[in-house]
Amino acid sequence: MSEDRYLTFALGKGRLAGKTMELFEKIGITCEEMKDKDSRKLIFVNEEQKFRFFLAKGPDVPTYVEYGAADIGVVGKDTIMEENRRVYEVLDLKYGKCRMCVCGPQSAKELLQHHEMIRVASKYPNIAKDFFYNKKHQTVDIIKLNGSVELGPIVGLADVIVDIVETGSTLRENGLEVLEEICPLSARMIVNQVSMQMEPERIKKLIAGLREHL
Ligand code: PRP
Repeated sequence: MSEDRYLTFALGKGRLAGKTMELFEKIGITCEEMKDKDSRKLIFVNEEQKFRFFLAKGPDVPTYVEYGAADIGVVGKDTIMEENRRVYEVLDLKYGKCRMCVCGPQSAKELLQHHEMIRVASKYPNIAKDFFYNKKHQTVDIIKLNGSVELGPIVGLADVIVDIVETGSTLRENGLEVLEEICPLSARMIVNQVSMQMEPERIKKLIAGLREHL
């Protein structure tokens, strides 16, 4: 396919987007417009290189990529697992490293041993369901929260939580701990399935270039 077509990237807003642009700069992909931290713009274009970048809420990135509104996305593995969209996951970018864990007060540890019915709060109900139902074979009641999930066991909403642990500070400062690890996480690159077939050279060159800098 001709290089006249824009290749569109959807980036999860926030820290990951900054890291992603730093990495892209190393292989000569730049977007000056994006560096203005005060800007409220959501979409940025590099006319010369025929790249477009847009910032989206993390959980929406796989949606844009599945539907082809973006050819490529960069988002955490947690979001990819939770959203379960039809996209190709092509590269582990190795930053944004953290772990998906079952956490709670130490006293909740034994609730995970005997297949008891327990309440699990999480921003990631699908990941929590998959872990408890399919891996642990434990029937649980999953309560979806939208943030500050650590509150769940503290205020008695849930017995445990399924959440991301990075440094562990949030847990420590709230008297909670990791009870079981579900999986390691990091930023990943995902690609639309049709784009991969229409623009294989351009996309494979990009992946190969990035791989050299990881
Ligand atoms: C994430 C996660 C934990 C915290 C873990 O929350 O849900 O609360 O970071 O990091 P730590 O191990 O380094 O303390 P986030 O900042 O995304 O906020 P939210 O859960 O309230 O949305």
